[in-house]
Amino acid sequence: MAKKSTRTSTQPKAPSPKTAKTEKKVTRYTYNDIKEPRTPETGHTALLPTEEQVVTLPMDNGWSKAVVVGKLPEGDERPVVVDMDPAADPVLFWAGKRNRRQVPVLPLQRNEIVSDSRIAQIIDRARRAAEEQSGAAQQGHLFADLEKTLREGDKGKRVEFYTHEEGWRNKLICGDSLHVMESMLHYENLRGRVQMIYIDPPYGIKYDSNFQQRVDSTKNDEKDQADDVLTIKAFRDTWALGVHSYLSYLQERLYLCRELLADSGSLFVQISDENVHLVRALLDEVFGRAGFCSQITFQKTGSQETTLLGTTVDYLLWYAKDRAAASMRYRQLYLPRKAGDLSLDRYDHVEFSDGTARRLTAAELRGEVPIPEGRRFQSTSLLSDGETNTPQEFRFQGRTYLPKAGNHWKTPPSRLAILAELGRILLEGSTLRFKRYADDFNYVPIHDRWESMQIGRARDYVVQTAESVVERCILMCTQPGDLVFDPTCGSGTTAFCAERAGRRWITCDTSRVAINVARKRLLSAVLSHYTTRNGTVSSDFVYKTTKRVTLESLAKGLEAEEVTLFDEPLADASALRVCGPFEVMSLGRYSVEDWKGYVVRESAPAYGEAAKLENYIEVICRLYRKDAAIQGATGLVHAVAETEKEKIAISVGPLSGRVTAKQINDAVQDSLSSGILEVHVLGWAFEANVGEVKSAMEKRGKVKVELIMIRPDTLAEGLKATQPEMLFSPLALPDIDISTQKNGKEQHVQVILNGVALFDRKRRTTEYKAADSGYVSAWYLDEDYDGDCFVDCQMFFDFKKTPNIKAALRAEIEPDEFTLKLTSEPFPVRGYRRVAVKVVDVYGNESVVVRDLA
Ligand SMILES: C[S@@+](CC[C@H](N)C(=O)[O-])C[C@H]1O[C@@H](n2cnc3c(N)ncnc32)[C@H](O)[C@@H]1O
Repeated sequence: MAKKSTRTSTQPKAPSPKTAKTEKKVTRYTYNDIKEPRTPETGHTALLPTEEQVVTLPMDNGWSKAVVVGKLPEGDERPVVVDMDPAADPVLFWAGKRNRRQVPVLPLQRNEIVSDSRIAQIIDRARRAAEEQSGAAQQGHLFADLEKTLREGDKGKRVEFYTHEEGWRNKLICGDSLHVMESMLHYENLRGRVQMIYIDPPYGIKYDSNFQQRVDSTKNDEKDQADDVLTIKAFRDTWALGVHSYLSYLQERLYLCRELLADSGSLFVQISDENVHLVRALLDEVFGRAGFCSQITFQKTGSQETTLLGTTVDYLLWYAKDRAAASMRYRQLYLPRKAGDLSLDRYDHVEFSDGTARRLTAAELRGEVPIPEGRRFQSTSLLSDGETNTPQEFRFQGRTYLPKAGNHWKTPPSRLAILAELGRILLEGSTLRFKRYADDFNYVPIHDRWESMQIGRARDYVVQTAESVVERCILMCTQPGDLVFDPTCGSGTTAFCAERAGRRWITCDTSRVAINVARKRLLSAVLSHYTTRNGTVSSDFVYKTTKRVTLESLAKGLEAEEVTLFDEPLADASALRVCGPFEVMSLGRYSVEDWKGYVVRESAPAYGEAAKLENYIEVICRLYRKDAAIQGATGLVHAVAETEKEKIAISVGPLSGRVTAKQINDAVQDSLSSGILEVHVLGWAFEANVGEVKSAMEKRGKVKVELIMIRPDTLAEGLKATQPEMLFSPLALPDIDISTQKNGKEQHVQVILNGVALFDRKRRTTEYKAADSGYVSAWYLDEDYDGDCFVDCQMFFDFKKTPNIKAALRAEIEPDEFTLKLTSEPFPVRGYRRVAVKVVDVYGNESVVVRDLA
């Protein structure tokens, strides 16, 4: 069952009586009404997903007119696709384009909730600590810097966060984008509900420089490569069929994106020059050519060294589901015009103080000769297309002028006279033109060439996109409260920008390193609090505006037009903002898709469910131990590996679920009854309490139990074959201690983190490293674990490597104060009398240990 918010207090108190009056209430949500499916598993889960959950992906849309969909959960409609005629519309063709793939539709599992009440609680705590005049800052936890800011710098500031419509929580999902999107469509009811999608896929180029192994470093050191657990190929551009696999990968996902988009929705694909042509052709096919909006060029870095022309730009391909609908929602952004701006070149006339004017010379415009002092202007047309019946004669400086054939004046002759009086009409040859001064509007509309986007930025992730790039897309195409999705989360740039801009977000990544980098980035964000129109984010923000003098405003004698600067929402100086509620999710099992690659005998008529199951067991067991003798699927010992020295029972976990305590228990019983004393349980995911179960079993008898994680992309079709020893790693649990003390009548508990288990891939051994030895990236504590869903109550990060937080808060901080705190804050024992501790190591691996407080 979903946890209920228990918070009853309001927004944290302001320290001074002055600000206390303005104290704001925090909306309280309960989660009882959440209907999203999850998979609480207690008994055994079917090893393979059931038929109902399988859809067939479109792969040959150049020819077919519709995606063929298998049996779907009730109420699902058949998605519509762009109808193309390959005889009329040239399309790309590649190996595998027409292959049909069956993929299961998996529900999302909620693993962790960062709820509004929890955030408010932490803020409360930070504020209380800040109010204690003498107390030292309680450093170490995530909001320690906030506490310090409140204490030292901005005492009077409120701390806020945005919440959205009742029940909504943003989502950070660990899983393959294909499954995540299927799940969003079929289970989360998000078809047509996403306003913008930003995809930054692997560019399809070299693989070595494109993945990241550690949460805390963008460098991929040799020594880390040996240890890496999951990420080596999570950055999946090692494709068996090269660009053919790449195109199939993108095509499948782009169709799903299209289904998720609202009619006015937009999709941006970030891509380099290597594949921009192919991806654009593919997008033409998926969205129809009419969906094309723009190909934006953005400057990344200085030129790479090359024997030919250097590369300095990447591209954003912008497509809309319906261009007309998208343009209704479009918000033009502007940049302040600076002296020397290229855009000033279009103002190629100069007017001198004596009223005379002249056109600038080419040498002046090129900067070879200084431009004389004066007011810059451009001459623009006074004509519009089409003829009218109204009189058009206009007298200027003693002569009568008429618009040229097929045209009419932009404003009637009586108003042209007003423009003439204002000195806004210019005679060029025999043509009347309008004089537009550069200072009529001191801003320049952004267009499809984005300069200097990457300059001077620090990165958390090796292939991190500049925030300015994603932010522009969000601001152009969405409004506060709209939903933004990024199926290539990486360091979470899209989620971060969406959070900053008050948009809702969902993002996913196969890489745990990426998920953890993003989680940390979001949780430690300190943002400006923008003033909303009527208190809710979806009512929009109040923005800075500026004036624009136009031909029309002058001719009609009106006030200059007011232009909204959508990238400059007004910030409330009396408040700080932190990240709003979100949940961390995963797919039941996210490499199920890949299973398809191993169903090699499907064509045989006798091939049924039982044989499929055996095939699954055989593949996993053989990948684990070549010498495994397969026992079949009748019991829970699926294979036995036997050498002279050892006899090991192997039990395989379900493809779309977690290994449960019951499975471990039954596998051990089955092994013991066959006289085998060592059991290896291989799983894609494990229930949180399996560590306790393992210890209990080992304590009880002579049996040894190993819990082995299978790497998520182990079966990935398309990935080049990987060495088996890279595919499995022991599930080792964090080492914690619990201390209790009496606080009046109440029993208070503290958790101490002693160590974390790291797998040494070279030696194939697991070693415990002390918690302070630099291998822990973050740890989280659920003070009252319900046995199902992890809720962050306390969070501890290694801040030494994230100086950007300090910069954001503009606080003077001693680095020593930010060493990882290893002892939690004391807390009272509550309802479930059970704590859970989740540790994320520097390689992005998570492990959870559960302890009863009885
Ligand atoms: C180029 S990076 C994105 C970087 C991101 N724009 C940022 O600013 O950090 C691409 C990301 O996509 C992820 N990825 C690749 N294939 C994926 C898939 N099938 N499903 C989900 N994520 C995937 C990779 O793990 C990688 O983190």
